[in-house]
Amino acid sequence: MKKTIAIASDHGGYELKEAIKEKFPDLEWDDLGCHSTDSVDYPDYAQKMVDVIEAGKIESGILVCGTGIGISIAANRSPNVRAALCTDATMARLTRQHNDANVLALGARITGAESAFDIVETFLNTEFEGGRHVRRVEKLS
Ligand code: RB5
Repeated sequence: MKKTIAIASDHGGYELKEAIKEKFPDLEWDDLGCHSTDSVDYPDYAQKMVDVIEAGKIESGILVCGTGIGISIAANRSPNVRAALCTDATMARLTRQHNDANVLALGARITGAESAFDIVETFLNTEFEGGRHVRRVEKLS
């Protein structure tokens, strides 16, 4: 069975969210909105991601807002979410390997689409290393 990736954004991240889905058409996307560039509030879309993760429906997600900051702060209020704001593929690799991040946050006004695609690909294809990192990740929640 194909793994479903949840994706959500506010209006600032809407276009990058759409570009990511178009770039990776073979992935199964659960698009939690928003669905246009009309102004919305990023905490509402972070909460939609929190809800599907806490319900056990989704293991991995991607959040996009203008900077990636607001939406990652909001999502990280859940003890079940480890949202990592990444601006390059090295951060994406290390946050999977060391933090077992389950949500990638991107800033559409900060990171260009090509870099964002590399970040997404790395994030989704890198495994948690376990070992010494397990204890540290457990202490996060
Ligand atoms: C929306 O204008 C903007 O504030 C939002 O996308 C994000 O950058 C907040 O952190």
